[in-house]
Amino acid sequence: MLASKRILLIIGGGIAAYKSLDLIRRLRERGAEVTAVLTKAAEEFVTPLSVSALAGTKVYRDLFDLTDEAEMGHIQLSRSADLVVVAPATADLMGKMASGLANDLASTLLMATDTPVLLAPAMNVRMWEHAATQRNRATLAADGIAFVGPNDGDMACGEYGPGRMSEPLEIVAAVEAHFADGPLQGKRILVTSGPTHEPIDPVRYIANRSSGAQGTAVARALASLGAHVVFVTGPADVPPPDGVEVVAVQSAREMADAVQAALPVDAGVFAAAVADWRVASASDRKLKKSKDGLPVLEFAENPDILKTVSRMEQGRPGLVVGFAAETNDVIENATAKRLRKGCDWIVANDVSPATGIMGGAENAVILISDTGAEEWPRMSKSDVATQLAERIAAKLVG
Ligand code: CTP
Repeated sequence: MLASKRILLIIGGGIAAYKSLDLIRRLRERGAEVTAVLTKAAEEFVTPLSVSALAGTKVYRDLFDLTDEAEMGHIQLSRSADLVVVAPATADLMGKMASGLANDLASTLLMATDTPVLLAPAMNVRMWEHAATQRNRATLAADGIAFVGPNDGDMACGEYGPGRMSEPLEIVAAVEAHFADGPLQGKRILVTSGPTHEPIDPVRYIANRSSGAQGTAVARALASLGAHVVFVTGPADVPPPDGVEVVAVQSAREMADAVQAALPVDAGVFAAAVADWRVASASDRKLKKSKDGLPVLEFAENPDILKTVSRMEQGRPGLVVGFAAETNDVIENATAKRLRKGCDWIVANDVSPATGIMGGAENAVILISDTGAEEWPRMSKSDVATQLAERIAAKLVG
């Protein structure tokens, strides 16, 4: 809940500004007080009247007149909040922030504030992928600015890809995580979860039996300790937890892209059961039976997401945790896997059918680190998650 939290919401000029109206409602439903600032361009998309009606307060507009200054100076306005949220954060606003420009009300407030800032970027996919935007994003992240999104998806301009503003409830989850009490407050943690689906043709795919239960429980436990969790999930059986930023993907390659987009993070937990192989050339038409014989599927290797992140030379998360699903010689195999992947910890479990772990509610894990193997007693997946989250907190914040 956000009872009496003061949010300064800066609405940038993009088509996603319409979602900010819903965001105001969602924040207020949870008890937050919202003061809104509209850039000049934002007024092309939403009206000051609708924003102020939803916020229940005066709207500050780019045309900052003397009456406003007399009521509340812009410095005071920038500091009177507990959190500044910029949604949508346009390429232009990000560029101004990254280069320290303050030539309108929104950018002046963002420079003058001593309050934490959360950005929800929204822009065309090419603009998001442009080297300048990616440079600005890295600069802002290094300056301590938090991000939620952007998501992949169909865009208003007709293109597809990353650049869509996060949904209002995802932004609310990021705001709640910011205020959550707990040792992981202020930490950004990536969790991958669920299976991946590798297409054969538009109607068929190759999958595995992962339910996503363990990864979901880990994400929930980390969020409840105050972390901002970016939850990159394949098509799982269980719904994603509340209070995390959800990035839904299908294939291993989409998961790899979503993981890259979520960086930098303080820690990464790779609980997904990623398919090792994909069909080398998935057909864009449904495969038909043919009298010439059976179809032959050729495979190509998928990117190893855990290994890629573990071996990053720059910007590697402070703690990288992998999972190992084994059916025999669990400790030996998982110990070798930790070294092969280059991660810090491996959570190993025996997924032989007799254990009932895959798809079940319980787990029996062995935590493997540079100090050796530690066997945990069999317990519920949610207890495994709670203990793992506590260990991660102890490692990140001492
Ligand atoms: N993993 C990953 N990307 C892949 C394959 C695996 O990120 N393409 C991660 C999983 O999320 C898990 C860890 O690597 O944290 C180990 O996964 P597992 O399937 O047990 O290992 P593999 O690398 O597939 O090794 P093997 O098949 O030899 O057991």
